[in-house]
Amino acid sequence: MTFPIIRLRRNRRTEQIRSLVRETTLQLEKLVYPLFVIGGTQVKNPIASMPGCYQLSIDLLLEEVKELQSLNISSVILFGIPDSKDEVGSSGYAEDGIVPTAISALKKEFPNLCIWADVCLCEYTSHGHCGVVEHQTVNNDKTLPLLAEAARVYTAAGADIIAPSDMMDGRVDAIRAALDAAGYEDTPICAYSAKYASAYYGPFRDAAGSAPGFGDRRSYQMDPANSDEALREVALDLDEGADMVMVKPALAYLDIIRRVKDEFMVPVVAYNVSGEYSMIKAAGQLGWIDEERVMMETLLSIRRAGADIIITYFAKDVAKLLNNRK
Ligand code: PBG
Ligand code: ZN
Repeated sequence: MTFPIIRLRRNRRTEQIRSLVRETTLQLEKLVYPLFVIGGTQVKNPIASMPGCYQLSIDLLLEEVKELQSLNISSVILFGIPDSKDEVGSSGYAEDGIVPTAISALKKEFPNLCIWADVCLCEYTSHGHCGVVEHQTVNNDKTLPLLAEAARVYTAAGADIIAPSDMMDGRVDAIRAALDAAGYEDTPICAYSAKYASAYYGPFRDAAGSAPGFGDRRSYQMDPANSDEALREVALDLDEGADMVMVKPALAYLDIIRRVKDEFMVPVVAYNVSGEYSMIKAAGQLGWIDEERVMMETLLSIRRAGADIIITYFAKDVAKLLNNRK
């Protein structure tokens, strides 16, 4: 059967019909909001390349989360900016480090907040790489116990989900073993499984002060040209016990999100990264695009590609928009 019997425009006639046949939705409970936490009090440093995002001291972080809760955003992922850095990233797994301190403060005040802890060393190492550097390269196996210790410390502080973003081989296994040994067998791991060596992380590295001091991350993050390899990464992380897997960045990797979703029946997370946010914000500020509409279309496309959960700096903007529409 075909035209004139079939007319696809019938299902587009009114907004009510369009909503009924809509295949994909963007719900607030699927969004995770990233937060940058720094020492001191009353610190709110704007991140120049990420309008609306700040480095916050813990007192102001609590105020921010209060606002998030009133907007119905219930998941956050934390990144720490430490007071000091060293060769082995000790401030990343110290019990009194910035992230575990922030986690306990948040849990105390907001017991229902879902706290994701990013696990990586690049914010804490003097050279800015994601692990222990030896002979100008990151030593995979020497990095694993440090990541595992960070995961244990964050979980002890109250983290709900542990998200390793370092891209070392075997890290999910190492973290799972450390958590289980400490009695945290019920804490899920969301592995940044297909994390690409991407230029879209530029603004984040300013926000977290984590740009590598020499070289780049191509010897551990994935080559943007590869797709099959992403499925191998995901398969290995699932074998090692990952409970959720992530594709990062999102927008230039929608094909990867779809392949992962089709291939594995597990929750897929997409990270709508800093550069994706900054591009839309910048063009919006210039009046070159309709920022709100481009934001919603972009996030919807990530869901349509197959992502169950989206980590996004737009979470607050989306919440304000959706809450106003009701
Ligand atoms: C740390 C980490 C990065 C991001 C999340 N965790 C940066 C990197 O690998 O350089 C990127 C987030 C973003 O760009 O929004 N490994
Ligand atoms: Zn890192």
